[in-house]
Amino acid sequence: MSFDINKIRDEFPILKRKVNGYPFVYLDNAATSQKPKAVIDSIVNYYSNYNSNIHRGIHTVSQEATDAYENARHIIQTHFNIKHSHEIIFTSGTTHSINLVANGFENLLNHEDEILISGLEHHSNIVPWQMMCQKNKAQIKVIPMNENGELNLSIFEKLLSNKTKLVFVTHISNALGTINPIKEIIQKAHEIGAVVLVDGAQACSHFKTDLQELNADFYTTSAHKLCGPTGIGMLYGKEEWLKKMPPYQGGGEMIANVTFEKTTYAELPHKFEAGTPNIVGAIGFGEAINYLNKIGFDNIKNHESNLLKYATKKLKMIPNIKIYGDYIDKTSVISFNIGEIHSYDIGAILDKFGIAVRTGQHCAQPIMDYFKISGTVRVSFSFYNTIEEIDYLHKSLLRAVSMLS
Ligand code: ALA
Repeated sequence: MSFDINKIRDEFPILKRKVNGYPFVYLDNAATSQKPKAVIDSIVNYYSNYNSNIHRGIHTVSQEATDAYENARHIIQTHFNIKHSHEIIFTSGTTHSINLVANGFENLLNHEDEILISGLEHHSNIVPWQMMCQKNKAQIKVIPMNENGELNLSIFEKLLSNKTKLVFVTHISNALGTINPIKEIIQKAHEIGAVVLVDGAQACSHFKTDLQELNADFYTTSAHKLCGPTGIGMLYGKEEWLKKMPPYQGGGEMIANVTFEKTTYAELPHKFEAGTPNIVGAIGFGEAINYLNKIGFDNIKNHESNLLKYATKKLKMIPNIKIYGDYIDKTSVISFNIGEIHSYDIGAILDKFGIAVRTGQHCAQPIMDYFKISGTVRVSFSFYNTIEEIDYLHKSLLRAVSMLS
């Protein structure tokens, strides 16, 4: 498909609105993406025409809903090249997925074991492991980052030992956009027999990942980052690990047999999908993946890389700007401060001009602590953003600086 930016923007109803009297310029895509009409329509269609519970009824509409839900699992399987569809668990998102794995490993580890987390993690890949370690007394070690926002791989290799049982690393830093060398990290961790979980929340909107080739033991993402609905995500886990882990929640649909004395659990993936799931969310998730594949990930990558280059050049013209993680292999994210101006003040003025950015710590306080700052202004581009929007951002930043100086 050819990449026609005007046609693409037409597919996103929200991009036509105004904010504070100005055309809406949405540059907070790392927080969540906007939704194309195809995804919105799939949600309306479900509730208008075949809303029903799944895996439970023999009636026609329940069967239609079940087929659509399971079809979404197949779309995800094909997209990520996952060996078995039962290795895909629908969760409410990346945070839920990570908590599910942390819960699953609680009784598989003890005080002699170590787990490694990267210094570039979102809080959602720090706090669940700290909670787990409070119970099983395993130790957390951190793979440090450097001034460029990259992980120090030689320290990572030194930290690996026969005590290392798990390694958790984000595919892409949400705060800086760093693309971590996860293939190398997975290989090194596997050499000493450690299990690897990759947080793919920030990666999946930018490029396709082949999970059989990557060979991570767990990989997770949230649909809302890639044009899908909020409240739905996936946990991919290798069959052997999903079988070893206990269920995260008990309830309907995750059981094989229940008596008051004892319950046996259902097969994968149902063992981890207790209760009525987010049916429409899964359907919208599948639709979003189909939509992005129609745009084409090569087109997405190309356009976002042009936006990043142009925006970096433009923003560097602003006096006293400091970009964090400037020299790294990264996605279309620019995290910066201007002089001593607080990031919130810049964000609030940009909002008055209709521009949405994120400010503060970005749920990644250790990164901010590393740079000894309270936060940054983060602009994050998607394939529906334009060069004109970057020019407008640049102009608005100059106005903000003159108002705040
Ligand atoms: N994790 C999301 C972000 O980076 C919310 O903004």
